[in-house]
Amino acid sequence: MYRMSEKPLISANEIRERVATLTREIVAVYDYDILISALTGAYMFTADLSRELAKAEGAKAPQKKIAFIKASSYGDSTESSGKLHVHGLEKIDLRGKRILMVDDIADTGTTLLGICKMLKEGGAQEVRTCVLLNKQERREVNITADFVGFEIANEFVVGYGLDYANDYRFLPDIWTLQETN
Ligand code: IMP
Ligand code: MG
Repeated sequence: MYRMSEKPLISANEIRERVATLTREIVAVYDYDILISALTGAYMFTADLSRELAKAEGAKAPQKKIAFIKASSYGDSTESSGKLHVHGLEKIDLRGKRILMVDDIADTGTTLLGICKMLKEGGAQEVRTCVLLNKQERREVNITADFVGFEIANEFVVGYGLDYANDYRFLPDIWTLQETN
């Protein structure tokens, strides 16, 4: 059994402020064509990030495109099943495009690395990655996200789109899940 931490690990306000600075960091160095977002975990981050990106991009904002893929590797457990399933990539014309790949969290890194490989195989010219959260301690494969919202410790977190067995996604803050007996 799991229960939520007493206080949020990262509050909605902290997220809002960081998303704004993060978009300025992205826009300063990367003129992407398409933002690709990995459902389901990144849906809330993506909505906020894209609105802030538009503010930072000014005149370039109307031409930016968005596409969604569905990546899943977790079952109803806090440990990755290790098998990556990706749906929806075939509908995106990647050839010659600069991609900003957005996900909720880089944990072992398997998902992000797997997606990046597929994007390049599909003909993307350049792929850079953006994650709201990074758990560096848990990394098992060689990938470094280009843009990171927050570095976090090796804890299982929920809220702001992130789930445990599909619960907790609507919560505006990010919470730690703690194991109970
Ligand atoms: P990775 O392939 O091990 O890096 O796992 C990436 C995916 O696992 C993320 O896109 C999340 O969906 C999920 N995940 C990893 N850590 C957490 C967590 O702490 N809370 C919720 N989901 C997580
Ligand atoms: Mg996910």
